[in-house]
Amino acid sequence: MAEIVIVYDSLRGNTKRIVEVMSELFTGAGHQVKALKPKEVEAADVEAADFLLVGGPTYHKKLINTMEQAMFKLEKADLKGKPGAAFASFGWSGESLGVVEDTMKNLYEMDLKVDGIKIKQTPVVAKVKKEVEPFVQNILAVL
Ligand SMILES: Cc1cc2nc3c(=O)[nH]c(=O)nc-3n(C[C@H](O)[C@H](O)[C@H](O)COP(=O)(O)O)c2cc1C
Repeated sequence: MAEIVIVYDSLRGNTKRIVEVMSELFTGAGHQVKALKPKEVEAADVEAADFLLVGGPTYHKKLINTMEQAMFKLEKADLKGKPGAAFASFGWSGESLGVVEDTMKNLYEMDLKVDGIKIKQTPVVAKVKKEVEPFVQNILAVL
């Protein structure tokens, strides 16, 4: 059983929906999930992860600012070589995925074993699930 830690924020519920779907799929596969918001996350949480997921939405072509703060917090953790991936919710451009992925790779020196995913805003859980499933399968394959 692996411990999957997810650091995310969501202003209007779309990223939260992605996190809920991912959490359900990971726990269904027998793994443990800890989903944390920027205010809650501590270095020890992410250091303890077997796989670290970091994600957030794009607002005004930028990563949501609470996640920008979280990225500074995560810099204090020792994440070198830690397996992980990025994810994002977006409406039309989705810059947040690249920002998070680049920071994980270049600043934290994480091992991004799986390509990040950006999912277009939708209230329909089934649509989110359809896009998230292959991403989760890719992660399960490297755990
Ligand atoms: C004021 C505003 C600005 C936005 N700016 C962008 C943007 O620049 N690029 C983009 O892809 N989506 C943009 N979006 C869409 C959001 O990224 C999208 O709704 C996302 O699912 C929000 O995630 P959340 O519900 O987790 O906060 C914007 C939405 C709002 C309300």
